[in-house]
Amino acid sequence: MLADVIDLLACPHCGSGLDLDENVVMCDRGHSFDVARQGYVSLLAGGSTPFTGDTAEMIAARADFLDAGYYDPIRRAVAEACADTAADPAARILEVGAGTGRYLAAVLDALPSARGIGLDVSKPAVRRIARSHPRTGAILADAWQRLPVRSASLTHVLSVFAPRNAAESHRVLAPGGVLLVATPTPEHLRELVSLPGMVSVDDRKTERLSSALSGRFERADRTDVRFTAALPRDALGLVAGMGPSAHHMTSEQRAQLLATLPDPFEVTVSVTVTSWTRVAGTGELSAP
Ligand SMILES: C[S@@+](CC[C@H](N)C(=O)[O-])C[C@H]1O[C@@H](n2cnc3c(N)ncnc32)[C@H](O)[C@@H]1O
Ligand SMILES: [Zn+2]
Repeated sequence: MLADVIDLLACPHCGSGLDLDENVVMCDRGHSFDVARQGYVSLLAGGSTPFTGDTAEMIAARADFLDAGYYDPIRRAVAEACADTAADPAARILEVGAGTGRYLAAVLDALPSARGIGLDVSKPAVRRIARSHPRTGAILADAWQRLPVRSASLTHVLSVFAPRNAAESHRVLAPGGVLLVATPTPEHLRELVSLPGMVSVDDRKTERLSSALSGRFERADRTDVRFTAALPRDALGLVAGMGPSAHHMTSEQRAQLLATLPDPFEVTVSVTVTSWTRVAGTGELSAP
């Protein structure tokens, strides 16, 4: 619920702290934001963004696929990495690009005194995030703009297959805070992404991640999650429909392509979960 995390949020216009009164979020200077009937609040800096995030269909496919349990080992690795680095049991966690909110929910289940902010730029996503866990508050915001979160207020920032803004993650984390990043390796779903028309992951992501974080974070730990899964046709349809290929192919085109494959179809799941500790340095002086 928003009320659980309101003290961690900041006004996107002036940076002041926020209060929640009934269905309105307000700052000291009188900027106000209506809470949507689905329970999230839009805190977009400047009121707009060029990004729309994942579509309702992609978010629904992702929710169904995650509920079917195929990615549970990833969810466990993220929850364990978070619990292992939570010096303070009352952890304050932001998931950027939270999608369905299911990774954040797994983390909150592992840490019963923790609370979480699920941030996404997609409206269908924040609607789901708002009901994903009782200790999660959902906000609509753009990960590439200044985050509507108070400086040095958090113990963890999570990014699971999602954008990450190194400077802003550094600003919102308290000293010693942890940035947890789950990224696909070049092997991830390789059997699927090598099919004509499907989009592959960028295999230089890990390298780029290290250079973006260097100076602000030190790598603390790394877990490789790698396994094969025999996906029945419906699960294969969901995984194809929730990923980047969904932006490039219609559902009919995907169904035609998948119909040519064996049922079940075996895919490789390969994801790296890294934890980075915030270090004092770049950005420290610019944090208000
Ligand atoms: C691949 S999905 C991952 C969702 C979730 N973390 C998961 O693994 O199930 C990426 C998410 O990032 C969101 N997203 C994309 N661009 C964004 C931006 N600029 N700001 C915030 N969220 C963004 C999308 O809407 C989507 O929900
Ligand atoms: Zn304000």
